[in-house]
Amino acid sequence: MSDTGDEWQVARRRKGAARKSKLLHVSSDSTYESTCCQEQLDIGKTIKRIRDTMSELRCERFCQEWKEQLRVAGSVFLSKPPENKDTEKPSDQLQTNTDVEPCQQLECVCYGLGPFSSCVSARYQLAMLLLLLDSVQIPLKNCSVYDPVFSSGERDVLRELGLTVLTENEEGKHFATRPTFFYLMHCGKALYNNLLWKNWSPQRLPQLIIIGNGFSGMKDRTIEREFKCDYSYISQTVPVCEETQLPCPARLIDIFNDTAVITFPNSGLNRLPTIHLGGAA
Ligand SMILES: C[S@@+](CC[C@H](N)C(=O)[O-])C[C@H]1O[C@@H](n2cnc3c(N)ncnc32)[C@H](O)[C@@H]1O
Repeated sequence: MSDTGDEWQVARRRKGAARKSKLLHVSSDSTYESTCCQEQLDIGKTIKRIRDTMSELRCERFCQEWKEQLRVAGSVFLSKPPENKDTEKPSDQLQTNTDVEPCQQLECVCYGLGPFSSCVSARYQLAMLLLLLDSVQIPLKNCSVYDPVFSSGERDVLRELGLTVLTENEEGKHFATRPTFFYLMHCGKALYNNLLWKNWSPQRLPQLIIIGNGFSGMKDRTIEREFKCDYSYISQTVPVCEETQLPCPARLIDIFNDTAVITFPNSGLNRLPTIHLGGAA
């Protein structure tokens, strides 16, 4: 799938289709949702599925490449090795990666994952996110996730995993106060554009590492006038951002296709005509 977020629709399950025994009900944000409208989700089973998917991906060569490319992009921000590694406390992440030094600075924001309890693509993308967080040692609580389609059960699953679930719709306008890895898989262009707008300064943009749809591909697929007009921040960064395409095996093409690591090296930013105007941040 490419950046088709504007056309995205959520298929609703048939009435009563998910009524199963042994459902574990965890508290939700909205009493109305949980007691009235929301079908209950088997939290334990959902987490097991996600962990199984992580195990499957972990063995994949392309997954190693994704982790490596994120580490390369994040290497400028990674902490220096501690003086004495023996005194270091073990990580409490889902799966500890011992190859990298702990990262104190990076945080993560994930938008547009989709309904991962019912959608296979979204579940794979969530599993990949968890593996990526581990590879750069971002603590799970430092990863904020938001999608308006999340059910209360899905929000509970995400919290149970240790992630931070945002309750407000930022519409992509997250101000990066520190180096931040943004994970926007197959999201609409407006989210990317808002993100760039919010961080539109020579100080902020280099703090962003985006894993999402490549900007050059977006440009190629969009009518030029519309791209320049409606997505002017993406359009302006196409010539100056650095894009590294990420590999994807044929069998997972719908899930991980058209994805790149995008960064904004200082060297190109002075060429941006409006960057010194300060954007909206
Ligand atoms: C094309 S779907 C992609 C879903 C999934 N990542 C995939 O590849 O199948 C775009 C997603 O963006 C989400 N989205 C829309 N507006 C959003 C917002 N303001 N913040 C976060 N996510 C948003 C939609 O709900 C939807 O799940």
